[in-house]
Amino acid sequence: MTNKGLFITFEGADGCGKTTQINLLNEYLKQKNYNTFLTLEPGGSDIGKNLRQILLHHEGFVSDTAELLMYLADRAQHVEAVIMKNVNEGKIVLCDRHIDSTVAYQGYARGGDIEKINQLNEIATQGFKPDVTFVFDVDSEIAQERVGKNKDRMEKEGIEFHKKIRFGYLELAKKYPNRIKVINSNLPIDEVFEQVKKIIDEIL
Ligand SMILES: Nc1ncnc2c1ncn2[C@@H]1O[C@H](COP(=O)(O)OP(=O)(O)O)[C@@H](O)[C@H]1O
Ligand SMILES: [Mg+2]
Repeated sequence: MTNKGLFITFEGADGCGKTTQINLLNEYLKQKNYNTFLTLEPGGSDIGKNLRQILLHHEGFVSDTAELLMYLADRAQHVEAVIMKNVNEGKIVLCDRHIDSTVAYQGYARGGDIEKINQLNEIATQGFKPDVTFVFDVDSEIAQERVGKNKDRMEKEGIEFHKKIRFGYLELAKKYPNRIKVINSNLPIDEVFEQVKKIIDEIL
């Protein structure tokens, strides 16, 4: 058991397998006696739970700017009240979506100014960065099939929107190759997890 905690984020378009893989990694680490903490964005803090409800289920008009700032408000509260605290206690924090989601969705897909989003992310996180980020890369048609019929507000956006998200994540991976590891998520669940495990075993 190490003393220093770790902060690991899981990223990718809806249906790429983030939730599936975060749970598998959590089980794997717990078996190895690591102290883990599982969390998500939006909604990983008390305030965040209310923001998540608005972000994913609000029925009326949501302005792009309001959407962006609600994601960042959620992140600011989450980083300070939950993530930093658990990492400082020596835990391995596993987080489903974080800074790169905002760049991919509100930046690449919605057309927001990426430089501005980077600055807002920097403010929201106080510069606290993930040690490792997994991007689960999957063909957009396959991802849409996996999501199925029970779609939330973001998942209801069409295939073109999700293709832009995929492109955005791959651009991010090129930009930050040390932090971001692209995982081929078109494969069966266990083969996807093998790729994750290999990277984690190298880090631990
Ligand atoms: N590698 C995979 N192959 C086939 N189906 C998968 C794979 N990974 C996840 N799934 C299934 O696809 C759906 C979406 O997966 P999920 O982990 O919830 O994705 P996300 O959290 O990224 O939206 C789930 O029903 C899940 O069981
Ligand atoms: Mg999920």
